[in-house]
Amino acid sequence: MNGPAPEIVPDPTIPLPPYELRMGGRHFKKDPAFVNAGVRDVRQLRQRAGLGRRKRVLDWGCGAGRLAVGIKHLLGHVEDYHGVDVQPALIGWAQAHLADEHHRFTLVDAHNARYNPRGRPSFDIPADDGSVDVVHGYSVFSHMLADDVAGYAATIRRILAPEGRAWLTAFVEEEVPDCVENPDDYLDLRWDGALHCVRYERHFFEQLMWDAGLAVSEFVHGKETDGQSVYVLRRR
Ligand SMILES: C[S@@+](CC[C@H](N)C(=O)[O-])C[C@H]1O[C@@H](n2cnc3c(N)ncnc32)[C@H](O)[C@@H]1O
Repeated sequence: MNGPAPEIVPDPTIPLPPYELRMGGRHFKKDPAFVNAGVRDVRQLRQRAGLGRRKRVLDWGCGAGRLAVGIKHLLGHVEDYHGVDVQPALIGWAQAHLADEHHRFTLVDAHNARYNPRGRPSFDIPADDGSVDVVHGYSVFSHMLADDVAGYAATIRRILAPEGRAWLTAFVEEEVPDCVENPDDYLDLRWDGALHCVRYERHFFEQLMWDAGLAVSEFVHGKETDGQSVYVLRRR
């Protein structure tokens, strides 16, 4: 029987970040919504990016650990979950409450005009070359201009294992200008403040990935938060 996957009831032994530390908070006011959004990503990563308990996961722009919460609920753990973010409060909470022998979090001081405007210019993701089986980057390229997207795509290529996959979301449409910050009349939402929504033209975005050494394995248009699309990428 193929129906929607069952909702998971939050496990009270797994800590959840307070509401104000939940990125995308308006979608996650209730604990079951937060937990099930993480669980849903884990199911997708399992289905589309080869995630399993023996895999090494790099959660780039991890926030306060939404994916880690999903992994703990659905799989218990993976071989190595490494969450990386630029916001000290989120990483501090996650390291204090979610870290254990299989889960860890690292703060990076990279510049992002929305989330870390005083950070250093950098495309760094702290992981060794070829060491990551699954990169998860939910709603991170959605808040970056093209130079950063190109730079980080090259980093993702560097850290991916030969058979690894990167599962990323972005605002991508066809027949629009190459890259627009906070586009007017897009998706019926009001985009406000630096890098709230950076929308890409599909072929332009895929060329950026290709130039960085990444090929598109899968593209799913418009089904993620606020109308973002999913890319599954591999080394080319
Ligand atoms: C919209 S939030 C998504 C959080 C998380 N991925 C989720 O889906 O719950 C985007 C996250 O990317 C982080 N971020 C932005 N630029 C970054 C960078 N250069 N390196 C690491 N994290 C970054 C932000 O601090 C923020 O937590």
